Amino acid sequence: MLDDCTLFTIKKPSWQQVKHPILIKNNIDLWLCHLQTRPAQLSGNKWLKLKHHIAKVKAEHKHGIVTFGGAFSNHIAAVAAACAQLGLKSLTYLRADSVDLNNPTIQFCLQHGMRFHLLNRAEYRLRNDDTFCQVITNSHPELLLVAEGGSSSEGAKGVAELNLTDTPNGKASLVALATASGGTLAGVITANKSQVLGIAAVKDSSIADRVKQLLPQEVNATSWSINMDYTDAGYAKFSPELLAFCREMASYNVHVEPIYSGKALYGLFKLIEQGQLNKHKRICFFHTGGLQGLDGLLYRNLISANDYKILMGG
Ligand SMILES: Cc1ncc(COP(=O)(O)O)c(C=O)c1O
Repeated sequence: MLDDCTLFTIKKPSWQQVKHPILIKNNIDLWLCHLQTRPAQLSGNKWLKLKHHIAKVKAEHKHGIVTFGGAFSNHIAAVAAACAQLGLKSLTYLRADSVDLNNPTIQFCLQHGMRFHLLNRAEYRLRNDDTFCQVITNSHPELLLVAEGGSSSEGAKGVAELNLTDTPNGKASLVALATASGGTLAGVITANKSQVLGIAAVKDSSIADRVKQLLPQEVNATSWSINMDYTDAGYAKFSPELLAFCREMASYNVHVEPIYSGKALYGLFKLIEQGQLNKHKRICFFHTGGLQGLDGLLYRNLISANDYKILMGG
């Protein structure tokens, strides 16, 4: 199913073993699973979360997708890329008071035909409210409404097609990944028999409830957990230490950004260092993509041009 879209270059999942002194000291065999695509905006969890939404657009004879997102969101860039490539329309209800035409994510989306409706912060809080969503659906009957982050049962279903347990060295007893709106984590829990650890990238205590809503009933509640200890000051906030960790990872040829994948990988390394994952000998970390977010960090001067180059991999 991963190769089902001939319009994109979607490579098979690729595996990368990481050899770092902390891992060696703690006797952990760590494997990163990558899913790279061209355009890169669909890499990681993005195409997986969108593919069944796109199938639904086609099955229901709709003309495209309407969704929600912030101005630097990886999800809106992915929706714009996928819809443009497939000749579909895309519209985002954007959490913003105005559209900043210099924002690289917005530029990418506009270049790919996405349109925007602005929501202020109070309005944006209604993005999961049924009545509000019904109003949006009624306003755009030709478009399929996709939840923020693509985190719906369709999103989780796509992610559940990915086998993250069987690394090239054998079975991983733990699969770890960044979590925010919860759809990716729900898909990974559904598909993998190993223990699953979501490491939160946002300070949001409702993630677990949202994940539960997307899980089949038979899933054992003890098979997964969410760690909230490494959110830093919140979404898209990161300490100099976390940024330094991302730079260090680049020297191991692991390219992560400090909003999602780097934040979660940092948390994983801390848990390993603290001996909290000692019972696991082999761990898989799902690289969920999102490197386009580095453009936004550079644009806002939150990272230097040199950091950008290092984190992107030259
Ligand atoms: C790069 C990246 N990693 C992880 C996540 C978290 O995924 P989810 O929102 O499904 O929890 C996101 C958000 O979609 C993301 O953009």
